[in-house]
Amino acid sequence: MYRRTLTYTCLLHLFILTLADDTLVKTPLGPIRGLELTDEETGKTVYEFRGIRFAKAPTGERRFRKPEPVDPWAEEYDGTEYGYACPQMNFEEVDDGSSNQSEDCLFLNVYVPHSVTKGEKLSVMVWIHGGGLTLGNGFFYDGTRLAVDGNVIVVTINYRLGLLGFLGIHHSAARGNYGLWDQIAALQWVQHNIASFRGDPNSVTIFGESAGAWCVSFLTLIPSNKGLFTRAIAQSGVAARYLSPGKREVQRFIQHVSELTNCSLDNKNDFIDCLRKTDVAVLLQAADQMQFVRENTLFVESLFGPIVDGELFPDNPMKLLEDQSSPQSQFLSSLDFVAGTVSQEGSLLYMSIMPDLQEHYAFDAMVAIPAKFICGAIISPFVDYYYKGDEKIKNAICSFYTSDGSEDDQSNRAADFYGDMLFNPWTRNMLDYHARPGEGKTYQYQVSKLSPYPTGYPYMPPPSWFKGAGHFDEAIGLFRSNNRKAIFNGTISDDYKQYSRTMIAYWTSFAKTGVPCAGKTSLPWLEYDTKRRMFMEFDDEIYLRQNWKSAMNKFWSGEIPPVPIDEDLKITHDEL
Ligand SMILES: *[C@@H]1O[C@H](CO)[C@@H](O)[C@H](O)[C@H]1NC(C)=O
Ligand SMILES: *[C@@H]1O[C@H](CO)[C@@H](O)[C@H](O)[C@H]1NC(C)=O
Ligand SMILES: *[C@@H]1O[C@H](CO)[C@@H](O)[C@H](O)[C@H]1NC(C)=O
Repeated sequence: MYRRTLTYTCLLHLFILTLADDTLVKTPLGPIRGLELTDEETGKTVYEFRGIRFAKAPTGERRFRKPEPVDPWAEEYDGTEYGYACPQMNFEEVDDGSSNQSEDCLFLNVYVPHSVTKGEKLSVMVWIHGGGLTLGNGFFYDGTRLAVDGNVIVVTINYRLGLLGFLGIHHSAARGNYGLWDQIAALQWVQHNIASFRGDPNSVTIFGESAGAWCVSFLTLIPSNKGLFTRAIAQSGVAARYLSPGKREVQRFIQHVSELTNCSLDNKNDFIDCLRKTDVAVLLQAADQMQFVRENTLFVESLFGPIVDGELFPDNPMKLLEDQSSPQSQFLSSLDFVAGTVSQEGSLLYMSIMPDLQEHYAFDAMVAIPAKFICGAIISPFVDYYYKGDEKIKNAICSFYTSDGSEDDQSNRAADFYGDMLFNPWTRNMLDYHARPGEGKTYQYQVSKLSPYPTGYPYMPPPSWFKGAGHFDEAIGLFRSNNRKAIFNGTISDDYKQYSRTMIAYWTSFAKTGVPCAGKTSLPWLEYDTKRRMFMEFDDEIYLRQNWKSAMNKFWSGEIPPVPIDEDLKITHDEL
């Protein structure tokens, strides 16, 4: 009897061992073999499933179309290697692995903490990477720390970029928004498959940085996304007027593409068919945004962005937002929402000024950025473009960003302008929209904590005049990793590790409950409302503050008119 029980127990044990092979996951689509890895910092286990295809290759006839779902498979899928990055220009300075690229790039990665088989269902966080909608990939971001420390499942995704992801021509031949459709397809994949990884499809948070945050924000304005996620975190970027290309931009751009590809514009359907047969390298060349920077300026019009397509966006989303009863506003209000920024988003400025431009205006951005440069090279073309060259507006903006103080002060004012033009007033507007009556909770943060790898590291460290945390600094608190690629590769101080753990605790608690909280003794992060405007400051200390950047907000929402919204855009069709 004893022996039999023992045999039985052994057999049972063996059986359980086989069952508990956490690197093999049976999804509704088919089995996937991943990796069992150890988090270096805590010694804890994480299961990683890499390079999972979530849509058919968007190539050939599928170029410039919505992604198609993958067919099920029977054999074990190899989930031990990352997939390719989407086609993009390569810059030596951006050593993020994107040089390994292919048009067949619709892959995602899944990080599961501790065990795939045991325990409760876990909340899911889906990361949408940044890179101006033209650069980057998902696999660069190691979700291990978030998954292990926060006890959530992290999913990182690729989506089509640049012309391949966003060529929309206000015509049925190419409606645009393919990159957004890819993100939606990845979220649908999560709905159908994440339970196999112990994920809870009813507790999904989307989060992203920079262009990833633009996308997060646009996804919150698409009512048909209801059910795909219930929470959203927009880190340094929200939907904004300037992101959606209007008629002028599209017209100029396709003219240019037509010239470079020899694809005739006479018939739009033939034009797009011809582009489907054009080599990716030629398309990347044709889409180089630098060709659209006007002489002696640093003003770039948006060429690729969420566009009115008659499907995801029946009209300019910024217009739909103003109507509190629109389905778009209603959907946004139903979600829990965090939006935040770093203290100096304008760090992007010192990295963006080409040497010939510095020569033309006779300055060295590493030493100082003079007022005459931002007035002449950015504010002036900006006002020409959006406000028909209104001199009063030009002067108002220029004087607001001119400092009476030192050269260092002036340089920071220049950076302020850049950050404000691109991010800050839009963030405040979006928070105000979201704080209107509705179910979802609203939170704001600002990250001022300097990251161990400031923007530009290691190629272009911040100039000595630069003050504050720069664009992307907050992402390092969430995704730093000691074993991946150039910018995350160094050692990290214990102080920053501690800070990062707290940040991860707030982020993942929001993902799980809709309330950002870092443990019972943590400082409560109060909700944002339009009366008190509370926000959490993440600095060396973490504390609550009120009335974020009030002078900036007063200026952009009172002293100059809002950036005008484009004329009504309609989708046209060619006669057959
Ligand atoms: C590039 O990606 C492919 C597809 O995942 C992979 O097989 C290959 O090893 C990668 N090459 C490099 C150099 O990383
Ligand atoms: C377009 O036509 C010109 C002139 O015939 C030729 O030089 C160029 O290589 C063509 N470009 C492409 C992308 O085919
Ligand atoms: C990190 O990467 C940079 C850029 O490739 C390199 O210069 C540096 O030596 C690396 N540091 C470590 C600790 O590997």
